[in-house]
Parts: sequence; C-alpha cells; structure tokens
Amino acid sequence: MEGISEINEGGVRLIIPSDPLRKKAFYNPSASLSRDMTVLFIKALGEKELEVCDSLAGTGARSVRILKETGKVSRVWIVERSHEAVDFIHHNLKVNGLANRAYVFEMDANVFLYQHAGFFDFVDMDPFGSPIYYLEGAVRAAKRKAYISVTATDQKALMGFSPRTTMRRYGIRAIKTDMKHEIGLRNLISTIAFAAARYEYVFIPMISFHHIHYYRVIGKLEKRHAYTGDYLKENTGIIHYCPYCLDREMSQSFAGKCYCGREFRSIYPTWIGPMHDKNHVLKMLALVDTTPVHNPEEVKKLLKIISRETNTLPYNIHEIASHYKLIVPPRKYLLKNLPDSSAVHHMPYGVKTSARLENVLKAINQFVENQEKSISDNEDR
Ligand SMILES: C[S@@+](CC[C@H](N)C(=O)[O-])C[C@H]1O[C@@H](n2cnc3c(N)ncnc32)[C@H](O)[C@@H]1O
Ligand SMILES: [Zn+2]
Repeated sequence: MEGISEINEGGVRLIIPSDPLRKKAFYNPSASLSRDMTVLFIKALGEKELEVCDSLAGTGARSVRILKETGKVSRVWIVERSHEAVDFIHHNLKVNGLANRAYVFEMDANVFLYQHAGFFDFVDMDPFGSPIYYLEGAVRAAKRKAYISVTATDQKALMGFSPRTTMRRYGIRAIKTDMKHEIGLRNLISTIAFAAARYEYVFIPMISFHHIHYYRVIGKLEKRHAYTGDYLKENTGIIHYCPYCLDREMSQSFAGKCYCGREFRSIYPTWIGPMHDKNHVLKMLALVDTTPVHNPEEVKKLLKIISRETNTLPYNIHEIASHYKLIVPPRKYLLKNLPDSSAVHHMPYGVKTSARLENVLKAINQFVENQEKSISDNEDR
C-alpha cells in the first residue's frame, strides 16, 4: 500500500511510513540503537511492573519494543500530537498483539505531562532538537523515585559550537573545544539535574552516550528536598580549557593558570560528577545475548567501553601530538601510563585521564625516549 511498509526491529514487527507519509509520521531506522539501549536499561532494573510514558512517540516503535522486550512493563502511556503518527501507533500495537496494554493520547506532550503529575515510573523524551521544552513536564510527571530518559539532537548548541544558543537555551557559558561530545553530554546532564532540582529531585545519570546524530542520557530521579542543593554543589562545576596549549581541567571552583600560563576559558555550570552507573551498564551488557537487540555487536562494544570510562576529561591524542609536533604513541601505552585512564566511547583516538596536559606530554615524550633507546640498543648489538 502507498505510504506504508513493514520491517522487523529487535523483537517486534513495525508498520512504518514511506513517502508521502514519512513527513507526517516519524520513524528513524538509525535510532534503533537508542531503542535497544532503552529496552536493555529497563530490563536491567530490579523493579517490576513499571508504568511508562513515551511522551514524544513518533510511530510508537519505542513503546512497542518496551512492552514486548523488557518483561518489566505492563502498560505504556503513549503521547504523540501528529494524527498520522497516531494511526501508525495503533497499527503497531495491534500487529504485535499489544493493543490492550497501551493508552494512546493524540495531544501535546507538555499538556499531558502536566496533567499527570507524580504518575510515572519512567518517562521517555525523544524530541526533534532540544529536550529543554519538555524537561520540566517530564520531571513533574515522575513519581518520588522514577527514571527519565532524554534524547537531544541539538548537538551544536550542547557542545558549545554555537555559544550564544548554548547560553540562551541552556543558561550555560560554553566555548568550542576538541572534546565536543564530552562537553555536549555533560551540559545535557547538568541541564536535566537543574530541572530536576527545581522540583526537589536529585538526578543520578546511569548511562550517557553519544551516537551518530544524538545524545542520550538515562538516569534516576529521587525526591530529596533540601539535599538537592548540596547534590548540585558536589556534582556541577566548571570545565577549564585552554585553546592555545590544549590543557584542560574539571573542578568545582575557578582554577589557576593553564600549562602555557594563560587564563583558562571556562564552561559552566556543567556536570562534573559521574556520567554512568557502571553496575547498571554491566547489567545491561550481560542481557544483550538474551534480548532481541537489533544491533547486538554495536551495542556490546558501546556498553563495554562505557562500563570502563573514568570520570575524567578526554584528550584527543592525534590532536595533542599534531599540536606539539610529536609522534602519536599507541593509545595502549598512554592508557597504561596515565592515571585514572580509560578509552572514550565518543572519541576513537581519545584517552580519558585525570592527568593535566603537562603529564600527558611527559608520557608521550617518555614513549619517544623509550623508542629511541630501543633503536640505539638494537643498533649496538
Ligand atoms: C524524534 S520523534 C520520536 C521518535 C520515537 N520516540 C521513536 O523512537 O521512534 C519526535 C516526535 O515528537 C512529536 N512531537 C513533537 N512535538 C510534540 C509535542 N509538543 N507533543 C507531542 N508530540 C510532539 C513529533 O510529531 C514526532 O513524532
Ligand atoms: Zn594554555
């Protein structure tokens, strides 16, 4: 039939729009990994029988997968304002035998969320562009202890490549850096945490990742009243960056000088606390083989790297080596020789470490010296 095709994604069958309906009803195959992660996240939770709201549902792919694949959700409240998309949602529920486990609302997400204050265990928000316009509604719709998952596709604003937009949309002072997705994710987490704190919740990020065109952060909300202020004080702060020497640092207060002696440029207020709950990420990883994940190998690779990421800032080794005209050492060498180090899921040549630039350069120079020594030892033999 014109405007409709059928596909399989994960463990479900989906009726999806093709031209000319594609403009009015949304389905994006490249977000299947985001849906995989949502399913694994919910499946890995201890809780049973969660009440879930899919607040910007498109054609319902995420809701249908949550209902069919997690084994933790008996009912989903599905909200979407496009009439054409809502038709697809009904078809997709029916095709998968789920029509009696969902309530579908053709209405504005914010109106729905504000009408359902304190109602949900899990609120998913997957907008076009920025989630800022729905965040408060999502927090208000959460129970005293709940989970929230947030997608953002306005990467340019979040990573500070369009600082005026970052300021007016997020209230964050930002600059362009060579660790754009780290900044984007930390800015998104702090935005969620500040929105949560306005309603006396703490927001604890449990997994935060970048994939192709979007950021996604999923975490826990807990009503903690006055403690939320202390929590923000501990977990938000400033990222310092020097565009001249590429030194960087993350702290709760204003730092001194960078490696080259200039003033640091600052990004603030942003998230400096942990971005993942490693135990939860490992639980998700352990479930991949027994869940109908659509992208199993990619998801495993991503979860493995994320489970090892340290709460530090990344250096792009190629960038540093080219800036200082040094040879690029193997990443393995730096991972072994720098403190609190790990690979980085969003930067193929990145190394996360608590070391300041001075010590990163020392480690690179040490590698060069070792190389030269072993060459001259070989020549002497
Ligand atoms: C990126 S799509 C969602 C995709 C879906 N979550 C998935 O995984 O396939 C965003 C959806 O939000 C809908 N939308 C945008 N603004 C809305 C609003 N204010 N209230 C309800 N739905 C809205 C759009 O029609 C679109 O279908
Ligand atoms: Zn400097």
